[in-house]
Amino acid sequence: MKLTASFVLLAVSTGLAAATALGSQAVLSQSDDLAHAEAPLSDGQLLERIEQFSGLTSDPVELYKLVDPAGASDLDEPRLLYVWELHKSEDEAEWATEGDKLRLHQQGLKFTDITETRDLGKKNAVRVKEAAEYPPISYQSQVRDVISNLTTQNMYDNLEKFTSFFNRFYRSENGAASSHWLYLQVLDIIAKAPASTPLSIRKFTNPFPQSSVIARFEPKYPSPNKTAAVIIGAHQDSANYRFPLLPAPGADDDGSGTVTILEAFRALVEKGFTPEYPVEFHWYAAEEGGLLGSRQVAAEYERLGRDVRAMIQFDMTAYTKQNHTATVALITNDVDIPLTEYVISLAEEYADYPVQRAKLVPGAGSDHMSWHKAGYAGAFATEGDPFTEFDPYIHGANDTMHLPNGEFSFEHALEFSKVAVAFAVELGGWV
Ligand SMILES: *[C@@H]1O[C@H](CO)[C@@H](O)[C@H](O)[C@H]1NC(C)=O
Ligand SMILES: *[C@@H]1O[C@H](CO)[C@@H](O)[C@H](O)[C@H]1NC(C)=O
Ligand SMILES: *[C@@H]1O[C@H](CO)[C@@H](O)[C@H](O)[C@H]1NC(C)=O
Ligand SMILES: *[C@@H]1O[C@H](CO)[C@@H](O)[C@H](O)[C@H]1NC(C)=O
Repeated sequence: MKLTASFVLLAVSTGLAAATALGSQAVLSQSDDLAHAEAPLSDGQLLERIEQFSGLTSDPVELYKLVDPAGASDLDEPRLLYVWELHKSEDEAEWATEGDKLRLHQQGLKFTDITETRDLGKKNAVRVKEAAEYPPISYQSQVRDVISNLTTQNMYDNLEKFTSFFNRFYRSENGAASSHWLYLQVLDIIAKAPASTPLSIRKFTNPFPQSSVIARFEPKYPSPNKTAAVIIGAHQDSANYRFPLLPAPGADDDGSGTVTILEAFRALVEKGFTPEYPVEFHWYAAEEGGLLGSRQVAAEYERLGRDVRAMIQFDMTAYTKQNHTATVALITNDVDIPLTEYVISLAEEYADYPVQRAKLVPGAGSDHMSWHKAGYAGAFATEGDPFTEFDPYIHGANDTMHLPNGEFSFEHALEFSKVAVAFAVELGGWV
């Protein structure tokens, strides 16, 4: 297995060396001019250059260096990667480069970038954990009142804007701008909150341009026994796996999850939600970069000794395969099973679509894995069975919110907003 991994990474690197020799000569003078250019290239200029140079090499790193030498300057930086289909665990992770991540994307291999978070879960592994007890469903009237406030129109408007960013690639200015826009939307919701609602917002900065965004309902009456956070998350970045400077609207992956939890957050704020436990909404940067954003946050919580009562993340909530019944699906691998069963009971109580348990296809995953690895209870809700109902448009220019035949459904996504509201209230309490 290990050999295979080296072979994969090496093979691409070798193919690449030949392409480099070819390409760099042909465009030497232009690259040189560019490196000294003052203004960064516009997306349109980058597209022109991609077209111009893509005949010279099929390697994404070489192409990047030709198209945008300044932007490609850190692609040779060493990164420690755990490639899910090649390594049995993080202990087998191997050194590669930032650029190798682009090659893995092209090969359809998913990975975790553990460079800065190698010790995730080690401190929590020795802590004494009490068996989690999930409370009986008991806030029906409050949950239903908040749910009645959810609208698909808000989700539509937010997603229209969010997908209008050329892409939301975590290493780019586009990814920083889309993150800042999201931050301002959350801030705007908080600014309109009833004066008595204790809320905070945080821009969680990273060693790359895109920040994660964290909003938090503080407990109304803080108690030393109720400090564990209830966390609801989604990832805000998008990526075009063919080449990262191409368009990536990321409407389903994971613009849908982003606006799903944003709408749940808005309705909770408008209804004056005041929990017993802290309740947090997380929008993660750089899921596509190897779960970078969520691992940074989980690692900080572990380092600071913060407890987490339960975490759920929503990755892809709108795609509805033709001639399939739309469902709320709960993933059963790399999750906390008792929490997942509890979420199923919440979905059965509050969502109007059927609920199903589903397994991930091998080599797939998302941000709940960061919390699971850190030793916290995590769950994962998504739009369907990944084996039979998977969205074929993700990671490309065609992942838009305007799909034919009703395949992109805001009604479907709204069912997940209901689950997010129920998770916040039933686990966070309401005083
Ligand atoms: C949501 O709740 C707020 C505050 O109660 C109210 O002003 C608004 O009209 C509600 N919106 C919907 C769609 O129910
Ligand atoms: C916290 O829990 C302990 C042990 O169950 C209990 O004795 C104490 O009264 C609780 N404190 C508060 C403030 O509820
Ligand atoms: C869905 O079902 C309809 C009616 O049976 C059929 O005409 C159509 O071809 C089906 N679509 C797909 C994608 O299977
Ligand atoms: C996007 O869809 C168009 C129209 O169906 C198709 O021609 C094109 O190949 C698709 N592009 C990608 C990247 O899948």
